[in-house]
Amino acid sequence: MTERIPFETRPAAGSDALIRVEAVHRYYDLGTARVHALRGVSVEVHAGDFVAVMGASGSGKSTFMNILGCLDRPSSGRYWLEGTDVSTLDKGQLAAIRNRKIGFVFQGFNLLPRTTALENAELPTLYAPLDGAERSKRAAEALALVGLTDRASHYPSQMSGGQQQRVAIARALVNRPSILLADEPTGNLDSRTSVEIMEIFQDLNTTGLTVVLVTHEHDIAQFAKRAVSFRDGTIRKDEPVANPLRAHDVLKTLPTLD
Ligand SMILES: Nc1ncnc2c1ncn2[C@@H]1O[C@H](COP(=O)(O)OP(=O)(O)OP(=O)(O)O)[C@@H](O)[C@H]1O
Ligand SMILES: [Mg+2]
Repeated sequence: MTERIPFETRPAAGSDALIRVEAVHRYYDLGTARVHALRGVSVEVHAGDFVAVMGASGSGKSTFMNILGCLDRPSSGRYWLEGTDVSTLDKGQLAAIRNRKIGFVFQGFNLLPRTTALENAELPTLYAPLDGAERSKRAAEALALVGLTDRASHYPSQMSGGQQQRVAIARALVNRPSILLADEPTGNLDSRTSVEIMEIFQDLNTTGLTVVLVTHEHDIAQFAKRAVSFRDGTIRKDEPVANPLRAHDVLKTLPTLD
């Protein structure tokens, strides 16, 4: 059972963070046993940041991302997203906020197979008050942002893993979110393709999009501005990345396949 959180509508004063998480716990009750996935996590993320979330398997990274992405709620503790306390919202309200403010990218792409790149990118707009022409226009814009304009009518099976992940990123961008969350987005990709995906995230971050990305690869975290490490459901380290790598430069040093 999820504990109800005391009602309060205003965030505590003195924080202009895009994301503010305070003393968040998340546990699962399985029969008589309680599994603690998060044990008191407090963190702020400001607009324009690029955060790599690291930590061993089972340390709570996905649980944390699901709460940030309004896919799940804390068992206790608070979460303010752009100043709104979202920890008390019900499922419908969470879904509405998620659709407006959050783009989510997963390891496994999660594209619909018998659906073109353009239609896949367009899917999240179905919940937005837009007409058909505007939906297609936004999806085409999002595909252009990830350099896939020439693949708009291709099906997932006709694209490489890197291209499929770019479609998934376009889909995450189509509602023009303020935050992009990615859980192991390069986990299924070879190293050059992974760096290409990091180049897209860096380009998006340069244009002002806030990015929070889970990776277990130290090399990938070096493309972020800040690294947050989880252990046993708590944050053990939170520090700036010294001299972040530029994906654009790293790609010049990597061999191409064709
Ligand atoms: N729905 C659930 N029911 C019960 N326990 C869960 C559930 N989801 C996660 N857990 C437990 O919570 C802990 C944290 O899981 P989480 O998925 O957040 O880890 P992670 O850091 O993302 O790991 P990985 O690197 O393997 O993806 C684990 O011990 C996991 O078994
Ligand atoms: Mg995980």
